[in-house]
Formats: sequence, C-alpha cells, structure tokens
Amino acid sequence: MGALPPLFLAPMAEFTSPPMRVLCEERGAARTFTEMVNAEGVCRGQPKSLFLLETFPEERNVWAHLYGPDPARLAEAARRVEALGRFKGIDLNAGCPVPRITAQGAGAALLRDLPRLGRAVEAVAKAVRLPVTVKTRLGPHPGAPVWREVLRLAREGGAAAVAFHARYTSQGHAGEVHLGVLREAVAEAGGLPVYGNGSVADRAGAEAMAATGVGAILVARAALANPCVFSLAPLGDPCAVAERHLALELRYRALAGGVSRLGAGEAAVLTFRKHLFRYFKGLPGANALRGRLMELRTVEDVRAAIAAFRG
Ligand SMILES: Cc1cc2nc3c(=O)[nH]c(=O)nc-3n(C[C@H](O)[C@H](O)[C@H](O)COP(=O)(O)O)c2cc1C
Repeated sequence: MGALPPLFLAPMAEFTSPPMRVLCEERGAARTFTEMVNAEGVCRGQPKSLFLLETFPEERNVWAHLYGPDPARLAEAARRVEALGRFKGIDLNAGCPVPRITAQGAGAALLRDLPRLGRAVEAVAKAVRLPVTVKTRLGPHPGAPVWREVLRLAREGGAAAVAFHARYTSQGHAGEVHLGVLREAVAEAGGLPVYGNGSVADRAGAEAMAATGVGAILVARAALANPCVFSLAPLGDPCAVAERHLALELRYRALAGGVSRLGAGEAAVLTFRKHLFRYFKGLPGANALRGRLMELRTVEDVRAAIAAFRG
C-alpha cells in the first residue's frame, strides 16, 4: 500500500476551536479548520465571530472556514480574515445542511444556486492572496449530482481545491459514502486537487478513500473520540488526552473576554463536558459518567472525573 495522503481535521461547529485543533495537530493532523464562522459577523466585527477566529500561536496550519450567502460579504470577510495574519487559507462552506444556515441561502443551499456559488468562489479568491478551498457535497440529493459543475466553477473561480463530503445533502451524516463518485471527481477535476471526506475512522477507511486518488482526507467525527486518528493510532491513555484537552480548553476560555459572561473555568467545563465522555467510551464507568455529566460544574469536578478512570 502506497503512502496515504495527508489527513486533515474537518471543520465542526462547536468543536474545532483552538484546543481541539492543537490536540489534533499534535497527533498528526496536517491541516485544521476553524468552526463555521459567519461572514456577515466578521464584516460587522461581531465579538462572537471574532472569537471563533482566535488561534493559539503554536497552530501551524489552520484555515478559516466561512459561511454566508453573499459573495461580496464573503469576500469582505475573507479580506478581514487575511489581515489577521493567522490563517494559511480560507475555506468556504457549501455543504452545511442545517436549516438555520440553508434558509439564509448559505451552506448546502449554494448547491441549489450554482451561479451564486461560482460568484462566491471567484469573489473570495480575487479578494485575498491566501489559497481558497470549497467544502461541499456531491449534490443536493442522489438525483441531482452537481459535483462536476462545482469542480468547474471552483476551477474557473480560482479555488485551490475542493473537499467533497462524499454524500448528498439529503443523506445528512449517514448512509453510503460514494467512493465511486469521488474517484470520478478526482479523474474529472482537470488538475484541481480534490479532497475526500466521510466516515474515515481508521487505517482501512483511510486506505479505501485514498484509493480514489484524493489529495487529502478530512476526518471529523472520529477525531472527537480519538484525536490520535491522525496518526492512525488508538487513543492510548484516555486520561492523559483528556487532561491535555482540558488544559488547552482553560487556556482558550481565558481569551474569551467580553464574549462570555462566564469565568474561564466555568466556560471551559461547559465546553469540555461534550468531549469528556467520548474519551472513556466503552470503559467501565463511562456510561455512569455520561449520566452525570451535567453535575460536573467546576474544573476540580472534571479533574476528579478523569482521575476516577486511572487504574
Ligand atoms: C458536530 C459537527 C459539526 C459540523 N460542523 C460543520 C461545519 O461547520 N462545516 C462543515 O463544512 N461541516 C461540518 N460538519 C461536517 C463534517 O465536517 C464532515 O463533513 C462530516 O461529519 C463527515 O465526516 P466524518 O464522517 O469524518 O464525520 C460537522 C459535523 C459534525 C459532526
């Protein structure tokens, strides 16, 4: 088996903040993405959007992941993101199926309005010197594959690559990952790099996706339970990973300033609770921990919960 393409941490709203990105980079993720950031919020300087664009200085290859319906506003947001000097590239969201996003004409709605998608790619690529990628799906539903059109628009608009979650919007996050279509997309991309994404969780999955010829593989959900997936390794000592993650989370929340009414400790605990039980899944005591997550209120509570798993 030849060398695998690089593995990237895919963008995940509510999850891919600096702590998770650093944790995954430390364990082999070759590129990471911010959470989904509202282009309009960036243009208006909204604190919440700007907070999502915070990075840790040690991050080596983080890309800003922007969404919005309006090509001109996406371009303006991209300019502002570039000016921050923190990011290696800009990634446009053209695949999010959440109604709150598609109702605005953003995310996966762009696959139903391809001329707009084309204008968005072109406007953003012209606005910045940073490379611009598009993260999308194969089409709105299996009867409407639009990936060829997306590849053409991306190429003509000046994108540096297209990442396909190799499912249709109608599939949500489940069902078949269409590796055959991904292979066709790679073959027909006309030189544009194509990245693959969808349910890769281990070496066998990565090898199957690599066989399509993609230039990189994005991993999302598997990284939540195991950031070592980027080295195709098992989690190892879950307590050590959980403690490292908690420490990073405390550091990040200390940056929150005006964005949160909560103190850094309380904010870190609230965020970290959604990560914690995943690290211990399958171990004795994990279900009990899940059942009482809401009772963990302080950093000491979380540390004690982690320590309880030390044998
Ligand atoms: C909690 C969660 C949040 C996500 N948020 C985003 C997002 O903001 N932007 C995006 O393009 N995809 C988002 N996704 C989709 C993932 O990036 C990825 O395409 C999808 O989960 C399939 O990859 P996986 O099977 O490796 O999880 C999200 C997925 C999850 C589970």
